[in-house]
Amino acid sequence: MLGFGLRPRAARAGEIPAASAPGAAGAPTAQVAPAHLLELRDFCVAFRQRSGEPLEAVHRVDLTVDAGEVVGIVGESGCGKSVLAQSIVRLLEHERPMDYSGQVLLDGRDLLELPLKRMREVRGRDIAMVFQDPLSSLNPVMTVGAQVVEAVRAHRSVSRADARACARDLLERVGIARADARMGAFPGDLSGGMRQRVMIAMALAQRPRLLIADEPTTALDTTTQRQILDLLRRLNREEGMAVLLISHDLGVVRSVCDRVNVMYLGEVVERISAEHLMEAPAHPYTQGLVASIPPLSGRVEGDLPSIPGTVPPLTAIPAGCRFSPRCPFAADACRQDAPAAYPLPGGGMCRCGRAAGATSGGAVPGTPSAPSAAEPRAAAPEPARESEGAAHGSR
Ligand SMILES: Nc1ncnc2c1ncn2[C@@H]1O[C@H](COP(=O)(O)OP(=O)(O)O)[C@@H](O)[C@H]1O
Ligand code: SF4
Ligand SMILES: [Mg+2]
Repeated sequence: MLGFGLRPRAARAGEIPAASAPGAAGAPTAQVAPAHLLELRDFCVAFRQRSGEPLEAVHRVDLTVDAGEVVGIVGESGCGKSVLAQSIVRLLEHERPMDYSGQVLLDGRDLLELPLKRMREVRGRDIAMVFQDPLSSLNPVMTVGAQVVEAVRAHRSVSRADARACARDLLERVGIARADARMGAFPGDLSGGMRQRVMIAMALAQRPRLLIADEPTTALDTTTQRQILDLLRRLNREEGMAVLLISHDLGVVRSVCDRVNVMYLGEVVERISAEHLMEAPAHPYTQGLVASIPPLSGRVEGDLPSIPGTVPPLTAIPAGCRFSPRCPFAADACRQDAPAAYPLPGGGMCRCGRAAGATSGGAVPGTPSAPSAAEPRAAAPEPARESEGAAHGSR
């Protein structure tokens, strides 16, 4: 593994303490059952540029997924969701040199310490992925039946006839009617929704414990989107498969996930239950995302609020709080020091001391005075300066 000087650090002020450190690298934690199916600790990912300089796309992410859970990652385009997802299974290393630091623990075993050959086994056996564009993942000149059969045989030593029966069963399980007949179709003959179902069937062939789905419904119409999300939730319930669902669409993650991680410019800025996501978002970025969702009625008086500006490129990451150039509450202290991660009621986290109520006058999410997308605070109190508390900590 290649490091670039960003090693695990001590917990910051106000931060939710990490679980006990694992044992030897690449080995499960000694005698202690791992607390989580997947746990990212202080995970950083950088592209190594030609000059040798790292270009960091994922910054100090802590995230957990437990067996049987559906966990979401949401954020605008360019926030690092796909780089994070692909780095968990180290897919990007096949394309270009990457630098990692921190830990990616699967059952307490650090995947960053595994040789790439062993990583292929993990991808085959434990973690499966589906992407936004099934066409680019499917072989256009091979029937879908043959591709699912191949996926089954890649992970189980079964006869061709048994693999075919298993493939048909998988296609039925993901809701493909007349699966027998459809097995002879080519990917180009199927609709986008059907192709995504085929991809999910191929992922299921591995019997993974964790499915990472990166924008699996983004290219689909709303009805098909709903069906695919329902399918993911059903597979989660019936097969106990954990799902890490990545989307730019807050509505998508809210409707399917148990917990949601909000990502901005490479960082997780808020971790919140799906239940509280719309009603009591704590971080100004999450509030901005929530406020920009059209109401269910479709009726909007005036312009729908939107977050000003755009996600900057990795070469122009702002100092201090990364969201400060776009934050309506930004103060001088925000532009100087990166905010610490504050615990929220119910096990959540918010990387903004002001929103977490750590500063004088700040509102605690989940209370009636919490900042809400529906009621942007006009007279906002100043974010805390270092002397006022630990709202900002340098990194
Ligand atoms: N191969 C690459 N080389 C350099 N930068 C990249 C590469 N892929 C993605 N990025 C950059 O990493 C950041 C995060 O991208 P990405 O993870 O695709 O965002 P998201 O999935 O949230 O839309 C973006 O600034 C993007 O331009
Ligand atoms: S730390 Fe400051 S700039 Fe960043 S989100 Fe909080 S209030 Fe806004
Ligand atoms: Mg993406």
